[in-house]
Amino acid sequence: MANTTQRIGWIGMGRMGYPMAERLLKAGHDVSIWNRTRSKAEPLAKQGGKIVDRLSDLADIDVLFSIVATGKDLHEVYFGPSGVLAGSNKAPPIVVDCSSISVDESADIRRRLAERKSDFLACPVSGNAKVIKAGKLSAVASGAEAAFRTAEPLIKVFAPRGVSYVGEGELARVCKIAHNVMLGVVIQNLIEITLLTNKMGVPRHAFLAFLNNGVMGSMFTAYKSPALVNLDWTTTFTPELLRKDLDLGIELANEMDVPMPVTVAAREILQMHFGMASLKPDPQKYLDMDFATLMETMAIASGMKLESENKPVPTGLEN
Ligand SMILES: NC(=O)c1ccc[n+]([C@@H]2O[C@H](COP(=O)([O-])OP(=O)(O)OC[C@H]3O[C@@H](n4cnc5c(N)ncnc54)[C@H](OP(=O)(O)O)[C@@H]3O)[C@@H](O)[C@H]2O)c1
Repeated sequence: MANTTQRIGWIGMGRMGYPMAERLLKAGHDVSIWNRTRSKAEPLAKQGGKIVDRLSDLADIDVLFSIVATGKDLHEVYFGPSGVLAGSNKAPPIVVDCSSISVDESADIRRRLAERKSDFLACPVSGNAKVIKAGKLSAVASGAEAAFRTAEPLIKVFAPRGVSYVGEGELARVCKIAHNVMLGVVIQNLIEITLLTNKMGVPRHAFLAFLNNGVMGSMFTAYKSPALVNLDWTTTFTPELLRKDLDLGIELANEMDVPMPVTVAAREILQMHFGMASLKPDPQKYLDMDFATLMETMAIASGMKLESENKPVPTGLEN
């Protein structure tokens, strides 16, 4: 059971942070919230969230959570001139970061927090905003085990599928990179087999229904199916972020002498998508859409013209 007397801090009200913090509030926790764009946090005040104006208002909190875009942004919110640790000697005893950042950035942040006697837990998550709402988010954590055991019941409130403790230091970052490498490989393969069956005459919704009901189906293949059937490119994750994670995975593999030929092929196919995007009227707008747009590049490469099937497709995330 989570201890609801702990004072929790939350930084980041993006696609992920908002519904994660909302779950803590709904479970009765005392959560103080800061977001760079304050207006995005304000709806949570109605659910008991205490919206703070300054990051330094979170310096004396018991457990501080963060989920922002990049390692650079995380550094800024912790150590920047207006950051949590600016202007006082106070620091939260436990800081838990759920952003997806590199191993080196995470290690640097850990070193700096240790100087302030703060235990740092790397705690990236698996899922998207819809997965959080469906109560199916999971997480992986690394850092000092005692700090993890204190924070674990809180993490489980927004990651009820479970949080796996994998050891000291930045091992959770490595696991998240490996997870996203699989995301890159699976989306590529899911697209190519969907196009193959489609080109031979099978409607995409029918093929994906078979796949999702069978042993190869997964939470991911099911919740991505509506996008591939109806060409709905509402952003959950961008091709740019996926390419960054594939590169991080390949970099680690090179360092460790682990061959990852399938990952390298998936990375190069994704690279073609950037070339295709540059031919669009507004390449950046196109690249800001969901990474499943890779299907359009693969369709061109397959000599296919795609049209939406306009079919309702179960995602497995329905309440
Ligand atoms: N989306 C997914 O499916 C998914 C899944 C798993 C993990 N992740 C990871 O989770 C993290 C957040 O993803 P998201 O989809 O929630 O991103 P998002 O919707 O773009 O939100 C980013 C958040 O970071 C804040 N931020 C960015 N730069 C900042 C800065 N310099 N100073 C202060 N705050 C800053 C933003 O503040 P503003 O509101 O002011 O812009 C916003 O709260 C990323 O590391 C991502 O890789 C995402």
